[in-house]
Amino acid sequence: MSLTSTASAPASRQANPAAIAAAVTGTCPDGLVRAVRAEVRRGLGWQDTAGRVAAALRANLPDPAAILPASLRCGDPAGYQSHLLYAEADGSFSISAMVWMPGQQTMIHDHVAWCVTGVLQGREYEEIFTLADGARALSLTARNVNPAGAVSGFAPPGDIHRVRNTGDTVAISMHVYGADISRLGSSIRREYALPVRT
Ligand SMILES: [Fe+2]
Repeated sequence: MSLTSTASAPASRQANPAAIAAAVTGTCPDGLVRAVRAEVRRGLGWQDTAGRVAAALRANLPDPAAILPASLRCGDPAGYQSHLLYAEADGSFSISAMVWMPGQQTMIHDHVAWCVTGVLQGREYEEIFTLADGARALSLTARNVNPAGAVSGFAPPGDIHRVRNTGDTVAISMHVYGADISRLGSSIRREYALPVRT
């Protein structure tokens, strides 16, 4: 997940901890923003907030064509793309869309805050890891296949994962973060390059 802008889509970003600020490149439906804001303003803990925001996203999953222009829904052969759709003015949450061509994947990483994901198109495959051998390795603990319509939420700790488009079509997913991605550029806290025990 490098955060290098691409020549074909200069405002697009691939996530990276050393990110630069991202610009809004799509549209987030007002109803979804209002629903997420209502849950975030409850001021609950990260796990509870992630669960409630997941329900809000599940009830407001948009059509990909409603949030990204056709040119950004094709994917980029250079790597999966993250497009910022909305950032709350007080920095409490932000919303992005990710576009993956078949075979594209993230590094193994964790996150700076809670995160909710919803698959809008295609299929995403997620592997979940825990630290092992005194944090010198990773242990693969779960695998999830998330088809279109699948929504899940999680919060650190225990949020080390890798996501891949294992389908044969472009996959598009929506992500709500409990952090200001317009400022951070990414929700990634750390990338892991450790051996994996399966
Ligand atoms: Fe992630």
